[in-house]
Amino acid sequence: MGAPAALKSTPSSKPLVFALNGQRVELASVDPATTLLSYIRSETRFKGPKRGCGEGGCGACVVMLARYNPQTKEVKESSVNSCLVMLCSVDGCAITTTEGLCKTRIDFHAVHKRISAFHGSQCGFCTPGMSMAIYGCLKHDQQQQAAQGIESPTRPSCEKLERALQGNICRCTGYRPLLDVCKTFASDVDLEDLGVNTCWTDKAGAKAENLPVYDPKSDPQFPQFLIDELETPEIHSNGNAEHAQLASLDARFTHVESSKEGESERAWVSTSSLADLSAALEALSGRNQKVKLVVGNTSAGYYKDLRQVDVFVDISQIPELLTVRRDARGLELGAATRIAELVDYLEEWSKSSVAEALADHLKKLAGGHVRNWGSVGGNLVMAQKFGFASDVATVLLGAGASVKVVALKGFNADVTELSLEEFLEKGSTLGENRILQSVYIPLESGPTETVFKTFRGAPRPYGNALSFANAAFLVQVSRSEQNRTVVIQTARLAFGAFGTKHAIRALRVEELLKGKSLTLGLVKEAVEVLKTDVVPLEVTPTKDYRVSLVVGFLFDFLNSLLSGEPTLTPTHLFPHIGKQQFTVSDEHYPISQPTSKFQSQNQASGEAVYVDDIPSPPGCLHAAFVLSSEPYAKIKGVDSAAALGSVGAVAYVSASDIPGKNIGIINPFNQEKEPLFVDGIVGYVGQPLGVVVADTYDNARIAAGKVNVNYDTHSVGAPVMTCDDAVTRNSFFSIPPMFVGPPIGDIEKGLSAADFKSSATVSTKSQSHFYMETQTTLAIPDEDGCITIYTASQSIDCVQQVIAVCLGIPIHNVRVITRRLGGAFGGKAFRNQQIAAAVAVAAYKLRRPIRISLDRNTDMQMIGGRFLTKTNYTVGFTKTGKITALKADVLMEAGWFIDATNVLPMTITNSLKKYNYGSMNINYILCKTNNVPKTATRAPGDCEGSAIADAVLDHVASYLGLSGNKVRDVNLHTLESVSQFHGDAVGDANGFTLPIIWNRLKSRLKMEEREEEIEVFNEQSRWIKRGLSMVTCTFHALAASNIATVSIFQDGSIVVEVGGVEMGQGLYTKVRQAVAYCLSPLWNKSKDVDMLGMIRVIQADSLSLPNSFCDGGSTTSEGTCAAAQTACTVLVQRLQPVKEQLAKNQADGMVAWELLCLTAKQMQVDMQSHERWSPVPMASYLVYGVGASEVEVNTLTGETRILATNLIHDGGKSLNPALDIGQIEGAFVMGAGYFLTEDVVRDAKGKLLSDGTWTYKPPTIDTIPQKFNVELYNSPTHKDRIFSSKGIGEPPLTLATSVFSAVRYAIQAARKDYFGGTASGDMFEFSQPATTDKVKSLCGLDNVEQYLEATLKRSKTIPHGKLS
Ligand SMILES: Cc1cc2nc3c(=O)[nH]c(=O)nc-3n(C[C@H](O)[C@H](O)[C@H](O)COP(=O)(O)OP(=O)(O)OC[C@H]3O[C@@H](n4cnc5c(N)ncnc54)[C@H](O)[C@@H]3O)c2cc1C
Ligand code: FES
Ligand code: FES
Repeated sequence: MGAPAALKSTPSSKPLVFALNGQRVELASVDPATTLLSYIRSETRFKGPKRGCGEGGCGACVVMLARYNPQTKEVKESSVNSCLVMLCSVDGCAITTTEGLCKTRIDFHAVHKRISAFHGSQCGFCTPGMSMAIYGCLKHDQQQQAAQGIESPTRPSCEKLERALQGNICRCTGYRPLLDVCKTFASDVDLEDLGVNTCWTDKAGAKAENLPVYDPKSDPQFPQFLIDELETPEIHSNGNAEHAQLASLDARFTHVESSKEGESERAWVSTSSLADLSAALEALSGRNQKVKLVVGNTSAGYYKDLRQVDVFVDISQIPELLTVRRDARGLELGAATRIAELVDYLEEWSKSSVAEALADHLKKLAGGHVRNWGSVGGNLVMAQKFGFASDVATVLLGAGASVKVVALKGFNADVTELSLEEFLEKGSTLGENRILQSVYIPLESGPTETVFKTFRGAPRPYGNALSFANAAFLVQVSRSEQNRTVVIQTARLAFGAFGTKHAIRALRVEELLKGKSLTLGLVKEAVEVLKTDVVPLEVTPTKDYRVSLVVGFLFDFLNSLLSGEPTLTPTHLFPHIGKQQFTVSDEHYPISQPTSKFQSQNQASGEAVYVDDIPSPPGCLHAAFVLSSEPYAKIKGVDSAAALGSVGAVAYVSASDIPGKNIGIINPFNQEKEPLFVDGIVGYVGQPLGVVVADTYDNARIAAGKVNVNYDTHSVGAPVMTCDDAVTRNSFFSIPPMFVGPPIGDIEKGLSAADFKSSATVSTKSQSHFYMETQTTLAIPDEDGCITIYTASQSIDCVQQVIAVCLGIPIHNVRVITRRLGGAFGGKAFRNQQIAAAVAVAAYKLRRPIRISLDRNTDMQMIGGRFLTKTNYTVGFTKTGKITALKADVLMEAGWFIDATNVLPMTITNSLKKYNYGSMNINYILCKTNNVPKTATRAPGDCEGSAIADAVLDHVASYLGLSGNKVRDVNLHTLESVSQFHGDAVGDANGFTLPIIWNRLKSRLKMEEREEEIEVFNEQSRWIKRGLSMVTCTFHALAASNIATVSIFQDGSIVVEVGGVEMGQGLYTKVRQAVAYCLSPLWNKSKDVDMLGMIRVIQADSLSLPNSFCDGGSTTSEGTCAAAQTACTVLVQRLQPVKEQLAKNQADGMVAWELLCLTAKQMQVDMQSHERWSPVPMASYLVYGVGASEVEVNTLTGETRILATNLIHDGGKSLNPALDIGQIEGAFVMGAGYFLTEDVVRDAKGKLLSDGTWTYKPPTIDTIPQKFNVELYNSPTHKDRIFSSKGIGEPPLTLATSVFSAVRYAIQAARKDYFGGTASGDMFEFSQPATTDKVKSLCGLDNVEQYLEATLKRSKTIPHGKLS
């Protein structure tokens, strides 16, 4: 075991001074590589900013950063991603975290209160970031108005506020409630249109005065002490004072790290003039150190080389790089100008189409927080030096920008002016000692009409997604109305990000167009020439799509020039609207009340404690996994010497260190086991070999990367990478027959009754959980061979068991505690055991507390996500579309270990049975491959079954040329068929609500009329196509046994412990409501006002409430409520006699709750009750839902927009309709992500390529339905269900097949144009996700060329005017 290496930071003569939540922070020594987030999280008590991705892509870490300018006395506040901001950059700044918005710990800010009131927080992990995003937008707007001298400021627009969430990911809520919170602060919103909230119960109450008050004057102010210091430069330079002339490197902070390999030094150099910079660079030359010039450092989100930088040179305060100059033609901006500032300048520029289009485009880049901190120059240099897929370079190139480059030599600054094109082209221009000084952007143009348009094609139109290709076109045109000609005088056509080193101009196309009258023939020629100008590099993924995209951009642009109509790029996606309908019953008050989620204000304000927020105990170390990089190999040897020689490394812990059995996972459903660490043969890329333990989070990760593993890949044979491989090589797991349902009906009879039989294949891909809180654990060894584990787990009981087995100790020695999870979705049901066990083994071995918090990339590599399927089926059907038989063989991919995948045929079958096929026979084959084991992912099996079912229905519809919705109509279950397919789960006839909600939605949407309207729309619109699909859900819910302990204290307060885990679903809130109701016989409602406030549900603890089970399957809430109810019944029985006794002495016969509790305590009544509830018999029931989605597909780009989604969900008698609507919306949006944007991509070895926010795209605010209406249908009372409620967390996800089907219909309409003829019989293969490239491919990558060819052939006279 090595000792931590020495770390030494040299104290600086000028300490780093800043304010954190109003308090002065002075740091004499700093490691220059420290980010603001790392500092806040590890060195302060503030844990509001979370680490969700560490790469700028999720917004969980957002804080406010305020700067004071002593010259202008202005304060500029903006939201920033603290994971990218360097700590040394915040010198002289005031930082506010979400905690800092509160005056006291419980005096929450209006943003926090409104998020809570509008049910905008579920797991709460994203909520601090969301709070800061909204707050940041309010501050920005106030500042803008103040700068314009507006005395009576108005509130921001709804669009501005909604767009503030562009850089934030929430995996739980589906965003609708958060967008409602945004709207509460907006000027242009009718409060009556806002969604369910606790501020009012009906429209009459929808008044501003009923909202939590927001008074900007109470917001945190820039601290006076910092103003004083900044105004006295000798106290604090902040880069404003002239530095002494630097003869040698004058590092502000240095930090020396020593390891066994020697010493390395990191330095931070602040420069405040070009002379400073010149001197610093001169001093650094020839030192063989890696130097990075830093403005915002946001590039580190993409190029993660922070720790390899030796010297950071801060150039953000150099006046020449900050200068802004306006002339009559345009703007000159210092290179250090932040992108958000550029947008502000452009928006201030009056009436220039160039300025407007530039601002509009730049607002689609990254998220607002990145734009607030990332500089224009930094972006251009990334584009120039590293070939970054920049938008800034392309749009500025299109606008004709030029740059000044300064060569620093001694104290001379030699400035060269270059066109942006030259700058991008001449990579060497920015050689040593040359920096980008400024950018000039011409905004006003010549005497003729100027048209400037920009384009970008990206996985998400408005948020945090790099372009597949982008473009900017500037043309001067003259028009003749008489003969309807458009002459292009000059053209400047820039294209970027398409797989090139940097943005380029399509010079040959420009030349072709110049001086010509625009005609269809010219457009065709331009497109042909463009394809010779725009040629992606060979290695570019989706190369053909990108070319097709740029062709689409040019065509769209020229088409709009000719027609005078707007381009197809959607411009207005805001505001989102939505309605929620539900009924509230007082029968079991306060059950069924739409109360706020317990502790949601704490979540918003950062007070809520997640595992990684627990302060590290003294001597705590950090662990990082070493993962296999081969899919199938024998381990010949592991060399950890380099890792142990790394800075701060303490130990390498592997299989040989396990004192008990090498078992890391025991699946509670099938008792299948997996090893903790590989011992012999690795079975997949990403399999844990061991953990490296070091002194810090970063050092552990760096050291883990240095473990060398020697693999023998030959002796084991070739890996099995796909289901097809598995079939060829007979690589299967067995499936217990009980999980494969029996055939239904007579399949042969069904097939012979069919008019048609058709066979096809449908595939479904994987989905990553992308919970916002990555896997995390803190293990603390205790006396007597005991260990305490704080972990983010859905099944603490399983974690406890596996750790006991691993450590070879009794279960009672292992205490596992989980207070809350930052999302889970099945990913923390089983796989979490391995993370917790690894840390437990390391802690046990080293006898020290050890923690782990996986970085996003490792988390996604290790945790397998949804399993894949490939289904070959034959369907028999009549002329009317009535299905008579469905026969299918489903291949499921489990990966290397079985996890719980062999249980899932049951859920696939149950979900497939959502339509009446007459007869059905499904066979399953479970493939064992050398891929990461797949695991439960929200609605596991149900989601896949639903996708297969709707694909079959669409197949039949396409075959017959019928509407998919009509085919669903004829195959809708009747009571008879549902009973045949689902058996006892159907229950009473009056509980069969499916036809009711189906017809209700159909008539509400006027489905048939709407379908006809869409058909007409599609006939008239060549390039935009629409589709509408309505689907059903029949979800088998299986009520599960659960436990609860209810304890009453003498002051009347109550503590409840339950077997379930709070992971955002609102379990604890529902339990509180249940306990309040169940104890109500003891209360006097008139006297006991806030009974909910008396009840606290506390963390899950495997010793105080042992033998719980796994939280999942949508029924834990009701099971825990039932257990709590059972426990309360016992307490009521015990306390009722005391109450009756006391009542005799009260004049009104009423007994105050506190008096009752005090008396019972004094009488030594046992006021704690622990009970287990079990459903008798095993209660299975059906959850019904219907959903319709209308989508729009842009066939030039392949982009999809969900125009509207309407859902009706039978939630039984909801325990809390506000929370249940949140579950419905959140599940649906997660499903929409699965079907549209979330593309899991692996390389040939199975290594995940989509392992972070840059490459994996869960929905953001711009990919959710623009209109999102949800009705929670109350089905009748049912004696066997707990308070007649139904499970809600998973079923609505399956309704997202409506989105996928609707996209299919839109594509079908496009293909009708593309291939000619009818859509009938067009059964193209279409597997989720419907990514833009896939959609475009299906609509025809050459659809523009085909169209031009065909149109020109049809008409010899080239038409002027509109092309389509
Ligand atoms: C999550 C995320 C999403 C993004 N999405 C997009 C997007 O969709 N489109 C897009 O165009 N961009 C996107 N970006 C890139 C973003 O715009 C840049 O990261 C940012 O503009 C860089 O500015 P900075 O000040 O942070 O640069 P830094 O990180 O400080 O520096 C970047 C590089 O430029 C060098 N440098 C900086 N200034 C100068 C100078 N004046 N002279 C010489 N060298 C210099 C630095 O040494 C460094 O190598 C995204 C970034 C993030 C983090
Ligand atoms: S943690 Fe900073 S953006 Fe995700
Ligand atoms: S509440 Fe947003 S991620 Fe959970």
